[in-house]
Amino acid sequence: MKILYNSILTLLAVSALNFAASAQDNPVHQVGNVNAVTIEGQHVNLSTSSNEHIRLSVYSPTIVRVRMDKKPLGDDFSYAVVGKPQQVKANITQNSNEITITTDSLTARISKNPFAVAFYTPNGKVISQDEQGLTTSWIGEEVTTYKHMQEGERFIGLGEKTGPLDRRGNGYTNWNTDAYGYAVNQDPIYSTIPFYIGIHDGLNYGIFLDNTYQSDFNFGASNNRFSSFGVQGGEMDYYFIYHTKVADIITSYTYLTGRMPIPPLWSLGYQQNRYSYYPDAEVMRIARTLREKKIPADGITLDIHYMDAYKLFTWDKNRFPDPAGMNKQLEDLGFKTTVIVDPGIKVEPGYHAYESGKKADIFLKYPDGQYYTGQVWPGWTHFPDFTSEKGRDWWRNQVKRFADDGVDGLWNDMNEIATWGNKMPDNVLFNYDGHLTTSKQGHNVYALEMVRTSYEGARTTMNKRPFILTRAGFAGLQRYTAIWTGDNRAEDDHMLAGVRLLTSLGLSGVPFTGMDIGGFTGNPSVGLYARWIQLGAFTPYFRNHTGVNTKSSEPWAYGEEVTEIARNFINLRYKLLPYLYSTFYEATQNGLPVARSLAINYTQDPKIYDGQYQNQYLFGEAFLIAPFASTVNFGKVYFPEGKWYNLYTGEVESGNQEKIIPLAYNKMPVYVKAGSIVPMQSLIQTTAEQPTDTLTIQVYKGDADNAFVYYEDDGKSYDYEKGQYYKRTIRYDARKNDLAFGKAEGSFNSKFNHIKVVLHGFGNASKVKVNGKSGKLNDDFVSFIDPISRFDPQGASNPTEGYKVKSIVVENNNNAFTLNL
Ligand code: NOJ
Repeated sequence: MKILYNSILTLLAVSALNFAASAQDNPVHQVGNVNAVTIEGQHVNLSTSSNEHIRLSVYSPTIVRVRMDKKPLGDDFSYAVVGKPQQVKANITQNSNEITITTDSLTARISKNPFAVAFYTPNGKVISQDEQGLTTSWIGEEVTTYKHMQEGERFIGLGEKTGPLDRRGNGYTNWNTDAYGYAVNQDPIYSTIPFYIGIHDGLNYGIFLDNTYQSDFNFGASNNRFSSFGVQGGEMDYYFIYHTKVADIITSYTYLTGRMPIPPLWSLGYQQNRYSYYPDAEVMRIARTLREKKIPADGITLDIHYMDAYKLFTWDKNRFPDPAGMNKQLEDLGFKTTVIVDPGIKVEPGYHAYESGKKADIFLKYPDGQYYTGQVWPGWTHFPDFTSEKGRDWWRNQVKRFADDGVDGLWNDMNEIATWGNKMPDNVLFNYDGHLTTSKQGHNVYALEMVRTSYEGARTTMNKRPFILTRAGFAGLQRYTAIWTGDNRAEDDHMLAGVRLLTSLGLSGVPFTGMDIGGFTGNPSVGLYARWIQLGAFTPYFRNHTGVNTKSSEPWAYGEEVTEIARNFINLRYKLLPYLYSTFYEATQNGLPVARSLAINYTQDPKIYDGQYQNQYLFGEAFLIAPFASTVNFGKVYFPEGKWYNLYTGEVESGNQEKIIPLAYNKMPVYVKAGSIVPMQSLIQTTAEQPTDTLTIQVYKGDADNAFVYYEDDGKSYDYEKGQYYKRTIRYDARKNDLAFGKAEGSFNSKFNHIKVVLHGFGNASKVKVNGKSGKLNDDFVSFIDPISRFDPQGASNPTEGYKVKSIVVENNNNAFTLNL
């Protein structure tokens, strides 16, 4: 017993010694005590006992920026942030323990011993605070900030990340990766947006980590103590954003990182892709078949086989002897052409892009001055350095060739950078706009700078709005491009995971998003294709694409019934274009997405995070989409608060309700929020065609007021920047039953001379007043899709897909007017 007692004592003594030693040589370098403070207007500069340099800046009343390094802070340079700091009245005080920064929206309290920061609401509730004892620390060059995990805290966003809507319990890495046929839980995949939103106790906040090194986020993965974010190098540099609404957090985040410019109208139409359509006759066959089968479409995309031996800025002369002529023929049929561009330039003496790239000296290099060479489709290639003005200038000039050939869109692929082996060496140098660095810092931002350059080059040389698409990117990519989610699989869980990728991108400031409808690798079943193409009609970028060795994926490839289903929903998409274009316009103004996670409007409702409902989303403000796998015939839908109209029958479902519904293959579950205002137009086959001159406004009776900003312009030029647009706010007053059209703004003439208002849920409305005078109500019939001739899973086919309503037609002059319904 005594021996045991002695050995315990010895053990204790040894471990105490060990602990003392480890405190001294702690491999984790902890941020120290604040020993100097200077307050400069909205900024607080600090230094610490262990030589860290810290700067807190009030960026706006709702945004505080925190920067830290073990050396003096570097140049204030960012590829992501374009929003300038605002002049803010901030009250900054200090005592021996603490510094307090107060704006009219939040308070930041900075403890001095050691440095730690906590954010509070104006009435003193904790929004977010550093985890005591861990705060911020370094392991070598890697720096991480640890935040206390709040009771019941949820985490959403972080861009293109697989996994659940609520990311609690998971960890993620940001390193742009070519992820061919990725698994639904694979991480990382193509793109990096180090921005997330935390939610707890009725509060929500955003954190944007502005650093392009590999970053790691931990939302309580393998620990029960903290959430954390860290980078492998560079400064800790993050923006803390607080608002009472998630929507406003996204608006502030996009104030920082910029918003999407309005895309060309045609790019919101249906776009047909495949890897690859060639030769030109095949491209024309696809385009003509879409027209013959009366499947509306606007875009045809050419994948890598249009090039001569995959060499950028060339055309295969046998397959495409006259690209400009073909593009003109497509244009005449109402199609726009998008071509793929990869960054890799083939190493081949005599090849113009190789020679001129060498001459301009724009390729990425090793530290010894040799060009970096990696393998992609064309074989060994060099890569333009898009982080140098010289490289960007060279690319902008190359892109001009496409403008000359009548191309309308540039699809930026393989820009993670993807190379065979997927392991580009760390010692490749990037100019980083005068801050020479290695691949470790340049990699994640390469694609952003590539799409910026493609956008700039196309915008100036095409003389119209180009369509720009990318696979990889970094925070801020929305300023230049749409994004799609890469090489998904033709599997049910990919369709559903794809929805979450789009809504997560939407939470992270990116509104123009899409996925390969039908799946890129493998072949979908008929049922899966049928469900996926319907869902596609409710995705912002409606792209049908498939891999090189797969079955064809055009809407007619899965039998006559599926063609009818596809046509129905593509038709609906085209009829909804006034609604959709206005929703895109809204995104350009406030950064809100088109495919909206329910976490934006129903943040505090725990049901929406439930795994069985996490794939539901809003398409714009009005439509609740409930996608289901092709393997199920019944599905459970959650209706958030409010009332919801069944799109097809007009039947009303009450909110705060979970309901099991039968699922049909020809009608995906879509509901319209009560109070919605949905502008629609007549069916067209391409946006090059004019609809009839009547704008139809579907209005759904509800208990809450609503407003919709209707927006129109020429859909193709930048004249809207000079005021050539048509915009009016339409307000629904639930108590008065009024629908008020505000005076039209802007100098553009609407293409609609009449407005037809269709009343849903107003019962047997018998009287309607227009500006106080009685108007003429008509009996009408509303039908959003056509019956399917032979295919009806319920047995009997339904000849009347629709229901009776009342409507009224008024002149569309530009003056304000009010309908009393
Ligand atoms: C990879 C892209 O993700 C895919 O969409 C494309 O078809 C192939 N590259 C070929 O260009």
